Amino acid sequence: MNDPNTSPSLASDSDDEPFRVEYAARVHRLPPYLFGRINSMLYQKRRDGHDVIDLGMGNPSDPPEKIIMDKMSEATYDERNHGYSKSNGLLNLRRELTSKYFRKYGVRLDPDTEAIVCLGSKEGFSHMCLALMGPGDTAMIPAPYFPVHMYGVILAAGNVVALEVADSEKFLSNIAYTCQHFYPRPKLLIINYPHNPSAVTVEQDFLTEIVKLAKRYGFMVISDFAYSDVAFDGYTPPSFLASPGAIDVGVEFTTMSKGYNMAGWRVGFCAGNADMIRGLATIKGYYDYGMFQAVQIAAIVALRDTEAAVERQSEIYRGRRNILVEGLRRIGWDITPPRAGMFVWAKVPDRWLQRMNTLDFAMMLLEHGDVAVSPGTGFGPAGEGYLRMALVENESRLRQSVRQIGRCLERLEQDYAAPPKAMETS
Ligand SMILES: Cc1ncc(COP(=O)(O)O)c(C=O)c1O
Repeated sequence: MNDPNTSPSLASDSDDEPFRVEYAARVHRLPPYLFGRINSMLYQKRRDGHDVIDLGMGNPSDPPEKIIMDKMSEATYDERNHGYSKSNGLLNLRRELTSKYFRKYGVRLDPDTEAIVCLGSKEGFSHMCLALMGPGDTAMIPAPYFPVHMYGVILAAGNVVALEVADSEKFLSNIAYTCQHFYPRPKLLIINYPHNPSAVTVEQDFLTEIVKLAKRYGFMVISDFAYSDVAFDGYTPPSFLASPGAIDVGVEFTTMSKGYNMAGWRVGFCAGNADMIRGLATIKGYYDYGMFQAVQIAAIVALRDTEAAVERQSEIYRGRRNILVEGLRRIGWDITPPRAGMFVWAKVPDRWLQRMNTLDFAMMLLEHGDVAVSPGTGFGPAGEGYLRMALVENESRLRQSVRQIGRCLERLEQDYAAPPKAMETS
């Protein structure tokens, strides 16, 4: 029996102290949310009645095509669609995905074993990390990084090595170097082209080199192809799966969030290596009961019948890109126009970087210019010196955002130039 004088007494502890929730160690591995400061100022400003132009998040602001919404509405009235669905998605939806891969990239995939439906690609990506990574495993990820590329691995108890994406040749040689010098060798490479946040794009040859490296050094590849449908100026982002042998080493995630304006619907896909997909399906089988069937039926219609609308949407982003890039250049910023994706990766002018870091610069634009942007450091230290501006506001609001940024910086520049006021003496 326990000695009441020496054993800890739950009753007396809980009587004296407030109940404490202890998070698991993995939660403590996550850093404070860097966009928190920006977001709370944004909400405060809006509450105070300011009309803030929000270029912070890549959240599409245009609606999906009407036939997609109509199909969704119709499918909700079908009583057969309200039960649990299959965790890997309706076969007809997987078929539409594999048909699109064949039509667009010439890639043949088996919808039964080489494709799976996810609750948005971010869910699929995180659970794929859980299926592949564990303590002692290392993944190579792009730097700067879209947060889940880093924290999907960290939450799966793996380690990351971040390799700069800005120079694609250097990225390839850094992969080889890391594989030659790390022990144990990295198990996984995560790639993301068109890249968020930096808008770097590549050609098919580059992806073929990735496959060769994967085979030489024995790592798996996850290609995050979230911006596959958003490209301009005649550029078509290449699919990793179209490179010879890619399916032996990797998978690719795609989404209906961007090109189809269905971000809130949470429809994503993973296609490629059957063993990797089986691993993801195993984890998902325990965690979720699949996607609302009405959403899947509407997604089938979207993939089958709205390709032209996806192209029109890219044209809309192209128009917005031109306005933002030309506007920022006019006020003296050095900008490389992106040829894909939803973001302009804008270099902060040097004279401002000499005075403050990128987070403070972004806070300043919000406070004094009523324009919200994402500081590059929200994507890791490699993003210092840059801002990510999402093309999610319409053309006239984008023009207005440039005017507000220009005016606010001019005003602040004058404050910096003014000699400090002499101390008043009495
Ligand atoms: C690179 C990248 N991957 C994945 C996602 C998530 O997409 P989904 O809505 O399919 O989860 C995003 C969304 O912003 C993204 O930028």
